Amino acid sequence: MNRKFKKNILCIGAGYVGGPTMAVIAAKCPEYKITVVDINEQKINDWNSGNIPIFEPGLEEIVNQVKNKNLFFSTNIEKGIEQADIIFVSVNTPTKTFGEGAGKTADLQYWEKTARSILQASRNDKVVVEKSTLPVKTAEAMERILNSGDDNINFQVVSNPEFLAEGTAIQDLLNPDRVLIGSRETPEGIKARKQIVEIYRHWIPVHKIITSNIWSSELSKLVSNAFLAQRISSINSISALCEKTGADVEEVAYSVGSDSRIGDKFLSASVGFGGSCFKKDILNLVYICESYGLYEVAEYWENVVKINEFQEQRFVRNISKAMFNTIANKKITLFGFAFKANTGDTRESAAIYVTRELLAEHALVTITDPQALDNAKIDLKDHIQQLSFESDPYQAAVGAHAIAVLTEWDVYPKLDYQRIFDSMEKPAFIFDGRNILDHRKLFEIGFNVYPVGKPHLNHF
Ligand SMILES: NC(=O)c1ccc[n+]([C@@H]2O[C@H](COP(=O)([O-])OP(=O)(O)OC[C@H]3O[C@@H](n4cnc5c(N)ncnc54)[C@H](O)[C@@H]3O)[C@@H](O)[C@H]2O)c1
Repeated sequence: MNRKFKKNILCIGAGYVGGPTMAVIAAKCPEYKITVVDINEQKINDWNSGNIPIFEPGLEEIVNQVKNKNLFFSTNIEKGIEQADIIFVSVNTPTKTFGEGAGKTADLQYWEKTARSILQASRNDKVVVEKSTLPVKTAEAMERILNSGDDNINFQVVSNPEFLAEGTAIQDLLNPDRVLIGSRETPEGIKARKQIVEIYRHWIPVHKIITSNIWSSELSKLVSNAFLAQRISSINSISALCEKTGADVEEVAYSVGSDSRIGDKFLSASVGFGGSCFKKDILNLVYICESYGLYEVAEYWENVVKINEFQEQRFVRNISKAMFNTIANKKITLFGFAFKANTGDTRESAAIYVTRELLAEHALVTITDPQALDNAKIDLKDHIQQLSFESDPYQAAVGAHAIAVLTEWDVYPKLDYQRIFDSMEKPAFIFDGRNILDHRKLFEIGFNVYPVGKPHLNHF
């Protein structure tokens, strides 16, 4: 073991969470050796070669500072486990697609496999940290697996859920609202918790480090995502009413959000939320509630997901209705495919649903996005013949009947819309699924403009 370092930290899972989180820990804790392992060899090669497998502003700089100094990427999971004092587990926990709980509960197969690998390769005591988002009580199952061995090794399971948001991950990690660390309230549990607190104390003020019992910690992560998604669904549900009544959802959101009890964040109406977490975490919460017989609670939260689906459907219906109820053979260009700006991640992106629905209506769809075209091609691989992909938004819009803005990338409001209008079929339509464009100006150029939750502006 390399004793140049005070402690060896391992992270299992080199994805959107594991990579950035460990890069920041490495930068802030030079006396710790951090190793990130993954079963995906290509991903590890990418991290090592400098061709970082995810796009995240500021990530490359921070990785370059610490890589091969105290941050290492490897496929040797067994060796990593053997040498580690602390193991963060940051593997994916997608929604289960088969068997009991399918479509709702988390698929914990990757998680359980990890627990078994830890058990097999460990020769000394370890603190195992749940970084992935997990159903409440997962730590109990983890402990059972870890303690099923014959060796007298002590495993302490600690919950340290990650609250970073993709697109702002590095800022979120450097300056989080809080860090949550939950453990068993036994002397060993508290000792393990302290080791994790010690890591974060390198750069996080103590008042931002919340410690709690382990079940509160596991549940708090699910509830945080449920509340965030609930705000989006709340304002999106109101956007539908605004479109019927002539109210403007931005004006409503501003008035409502000015109440300090409510606050103004997460009140932007849009085509709907995406991302790998919100839907899966809410469904997880729903499943847990159902399994405890709390059907009313389950139904309450499930409606957050239903409203999101309603919003995506409404967006496509609005396109079709505005374009004289037929979009067959009309070219529609999607501005943005990532589930949000500043990421190439397209998991659960509203754009996937929108594209499939447009194709079902025989529209000709062209997709442009600054970072997400590779992922878009994978998401839509069954339809690749019917689609075109174009990195230049001007080129993507040539000959289009309509543009639909699906991701709030900074570049889109800055484009020359006169040039775009001149290159399009007429009448030209814009459906702004993120309300980021200057609608009045677009209308003056000649576009028929359809924002979300605001009166549309058309020339007929
Ligand atoms: N993406 C986010 O914004 C975010 C934010 C907070 C929390 N989370 C949670 O963090 C967890 C990870 O999310 P992510 O977005 O980083 O997922 P991801 O898919 O990007 O990364 C997970 C990685 O784990 C690897 N893996 C799976 N099984 C493994 C095993 N047995 N051994 C080694 N590696 C293995 C996969 O190959 C993959 O590279 C999830 O539980 C998620 O809910 C995600």
